[in-house]
Amino acid sequence: MANVTVIGAQWGDEGKGKIVDWLASRADAVVRFQGGHNAGHTLVIDGNVFKLSLLPSGIVSGTLSIIGNGVVLDPWALKAEVEKIEGQGVDINPDNLAVADNCPLILPIHRDLDGLRETAAGSGKIGTTGRGIGPAYEDKVGRRAIRVCDLAHLDSLEPQLDRLCAHHDALRAGFNEPPVDRERLLNDLREIAPFVLKFAQPVWKRLKKVRKAGAKILFEGAQGVLLDIDHGTYPFVTSSNTVSGTAAAGSGLGPNATGYVLGIVKAYTTRVGSGPFPTELTDDIGKGIGERGHEFGTVTGRQRRVGWFDAVIVRQSCAISGVTGIALTKIDVLDGLDEVKICTGYRLRGNVYDYLPSHAADQAEVEPIYETMDGWKESTAEARSFADLPANAVKYIQRIQELIETPVSLVSTSPERDDTILMRDPFMD
Ligand code: GDP
Ligand code: IMO
Ligand code: MG
Repeated sequence: MANVTVIGAQWGDEGKGKIVDWLASRADAVVRFQGGHNAGHTLVIDGNVFKLSLLPSGIVSGTLSIIGNGVVLDPWALKAEVEKIEGQGVDINPDNLAVADNCPLILPIHRDLDGLRETAAGSGKIGTTGRGIGPAYEDKVGRRAIRVCDLAHLDSLEPQLDRLCAHHDALRAGFNEPPVDRERLLNDLREIAPFVLKFAQPVWKRLKKVRKAGAKILFEGAQGVLLDIDHGTYPFVTSSNTVSGTAAAGSGLGPNATGYVLGIVKAYTTRVGSGPFPTELTDDIGKGIGERGHEFGTVTGRQRRVGWFDAVIVRQSCAISGVTGIALTKIDVLDGLDEVKICTGYRLRGNVYDYLPSHAADQAEVEPIYETMDGWKESTAEARSFADLPANAVKYIQRIQELIETPVSLVSTSPERDDTILMRDPFMD
């Protein structure tokens, strides 16, 4: 298996960016295939912190980085991020960055709608990142999106704008908002077009060439399986398929390109935004884990909700995404606890469940069944070999492996790129 697909197996922020960056030096291309700048992937290299939302995490190591057609692209966010990362000393040019010319665009009207809906929903809000992700995917599926390739044909955009604005003007009227300022939108697009078009191309063709040359492709998922539009905690989800299967459709390759599926799994659980979270901790233990793990959103700065490890959802994610092996991250954050708990099943109205039921009300009501293990007082932070881990941490990892029915391939012990323990090499498996 030459290729590796990295996906989040919980509610996002599992540490995908760190692991993709670590693997990127051995890949020939890194591809984002869904989501948009709702993602926040953090890389730490010799103390330098890089926060990426839209750019694939391979860009920092100079690996060919590709934004696939499955991504929704905010062209202004792309420009801002390219400038920010270039400001950190990374060279970004059409040789190392390619953008699919069939990517739908996120426009300011999508961000408007995202915000208007969230405000109107009050306490029932999803808690989106406010980036316009959902409305942009709606327009893609509704066949009225403006896409990257349209930026080269702005003089003939009128019929498309008619369709798009007819839809948005009706929605905006419902919120007492003025109609779309078409002239301004067109001017803004004219201004940004040359920047995006520098990188635009049919990336499926580029990937075909890369594959033919026998090169290794690393697919970088965003969000996590529990945020998947089909398989997640609907409606508290994002608007794309976050599972491994999307890597192929979202980049223009067949399903056999996916290769080794590496599920990224945090050693405990976090979630940002609203929605069910069976193992959530609202006590001091949760607070302590959140503080030690710096659990604040990379994109919005919001405090992440924290809870015990939930083996039920991770087992489910691994099955749904065909996970070959997992990378267990942030084990160091649990150092020093007297005991650690793992959720092994749920209780719901007198019945025991070994999976998360589909209905939102059931998901909100399930009560976790816990198994308690002794914690460890020794430090796992910065360990680079399995032999350096304390016995109780090893037991915890082994128990997780058993419960999720999936082997552990990597363990991450700090935010730094090289503080990573390799057990099975995904590129060699
Ligand atoms: P992503 O969205 O999955 O890429 O994850 P984020 O970057 O949003 O959040 C993960 C956070 O944990 C980042 O701040 C990382 O630098 C950090 N991190 C990643 N792996 C580890 C680890 O093993 N230990 C610790 N302490 N922090 C980690
Ligand atoms: P990474 O790639 C964690 C969450 C939002 C909200 C829901 C819908 O860094 O793991 P959206 O803006 O996508 O319509 O919001 O999804 N969400 C994430 N949570 N990590 C992410 O990305 C997320 N991207 C979206 O908080 O609950
Ligand atoms: Mg993140």
